Amino acid sequence: MFATDQYQLLDFGAGRKLERFGPYVLDRPAPAAADTVPRARELWPTADARFERDSGAGRWSLQCEIEPSWYVHHGPLAFEIKLTEFGHLGIFPEQAENWKWIAQQVQLAGEPMRILNLFAYTGASTLAAAAAGAEVTHVDAAANVVGWARRNAAASGLVDAPVRWITEDALKFVRRELKRGHRYQAVVLDPPGYGHGPRGETWKLDAMLGELLGLCLELTADNRQFILISCHSGDLAFANELLKLVVAEQPSLRDAGTITGRDMALISAEGARLPAGATVRWHAERPSTAKRSDHRAAGPPTHRPS
Ligand SMILES: C[S@@+](CC[C@H](N)C(=O)[O-])C[C@H]1O[C@@H](n2cnc3c(N)ncnc32)[C@H](O)[C@@H]1O
Repeated sequence: MFATDQYQLLDFGAGRKLERFGPYVLDRPAPAAADTVPRARELWPTADARFERDSGAGRWSLQCEIEPSWYVHHGPLAFEIKLTEFGHLGIFPEQAENWKWIAQQVQLAGEPMRILNLFAYTGASTLAAAAAGAEVTHVDAAANVVGWARRNAAASGLVDAPVRWITEDALKFVRRELKRGHRYQAVVLDPPGYGHGPRGETWKLDAMLGELLGLCLELTADNRQFILISCHSGDLAFANELLKLVVAEQPSLRDAGTITGRDMALISAEGARLPAGATVRWHAERPSTAKRSDHRAAGPPTHRPS
């Protein structure tokens, strides 16, 4: 996935994770590691910076001089990394499997594809899709992260790729796209548990995901190729809930393609898994997989928890 000199989870435990991001080793909170004991205690004092969360944002303590920003590479893609006041760095490395899957879906479709990427942050999924040849509409509420995503596109050699960069509330944008008659072949959505749009619009995952998903299915109804939902706060149980939601919203999805739910994780240098959320993937049946589809058509949705 990542070359180990670009990104590596070195260790985790006692509610924290120790990661290499290019030249720097960073020590950050990881609630999912609360009940785990660190394995490589000797590595932790090598951290170049440590983030402590206060009530709101938080604080980085630096052990050496750190560049204001630097780049981490993943294949042809380059991501600008910065120490932010919330402890985020500009990428979620646990999404790397999803970036690969998105690129595969674009290539397997074998036809031009328009993808809507909602809650798109600094653009990793947008760039994975664009690099594979898709047209992408990138939507995020925060103008500064849309700017960050555009810098990532430029650093990845994708400055001329067909990407529409939109700063907007996700739900509002989707409603407008439906009214305007715009249609897509795929949607990627990575919603936070709670957030807000640029004009203070509230986003609440548990109350609003069902509606947003229903609208995304309408947007893709003519020629749907794939849907990818991920959430950083969930786990496998959450993936199961998402699966049920997807199938309840659109039972026809079950027979028209393959749907899987899985947890996301960061894998340490020693192979230990640090849970990092949940993903549900649906893709349309394609000629090469038609036989498997026939087999599944009468049964329940395919659900392969990992
Ligand atoms: C979890 S991050 C997405 C991570 C990203 N998909 C990745 O893997 O790199 C959530 C993003 O949702 C955005 N957001 C929050 N509320 C929003 C809303 N109402 N409409 C659009 N974007 C929103 C935030 O600005 C943030 O960039």
